[in-house]
Amino acid sequence: MSELQLTSPKESLFNADLRQQIDTWVAKYPVGQSQSAVIPALHLLQDANDGWLSKPLMDALAVYLDMPFISVYEVATFYTMYELEPTGKNKISVCTNISCMLCGSEEIVDHLKMRLGIGFGETTADGQVTLKEVECLGACCGAPMLQLNRDYHEKLTVEKVDSLLDGLS
Ligand code: FES
Repeated sequence: MSELQLTSPKESLFNADLRQQIDTWVAKYPVGQSQSAVIPALHLLQDANDGWLSKPLMDALAVYLDMPFISVYEVATFYTMYELEPTGKNKISVCTNISCMLCGSEEIVDHLKMRLGIGFGETTADGQVTLKEVECLGACCGAPMLQLNRDYHEKLTVEKVDSLLDGLS
């Protein structure tokens, strides 16, 4: 899908289905607190825009949720699950925080970089995989771990990583 078309955010923001989904989140909060829905709304927009958030999309969301543009940017740039540029078809987010580091994330990272031929923040030439370094993903008991698209993979070994990469389409 190409980037979502935006003209007049209040009237034609995104599409009816997206508006309905955003409104469902807005309705969970007190009247006048629509900005509380910014995190799930950013997820919805990102999913609907091939996995990334453009500035026009974030600006339109700010208008829709009646909040300053900068407040939307602050959320979108703080959390690593949001992408501000197009990514590969698959996204691998590797945790290198303390528990994962102590349990061998360095070896996992080295192997991923070697197999993919890219570094952190890069996408393979065929557009299949984007590799990211992220902070703790809350799965420390399964360290070392990574997130492949939406799924967590824990207690990683080089062999498990190979199996994951071989299974990518
Ligand atoms: S430190 Fe890696 S998931 Fe918590």
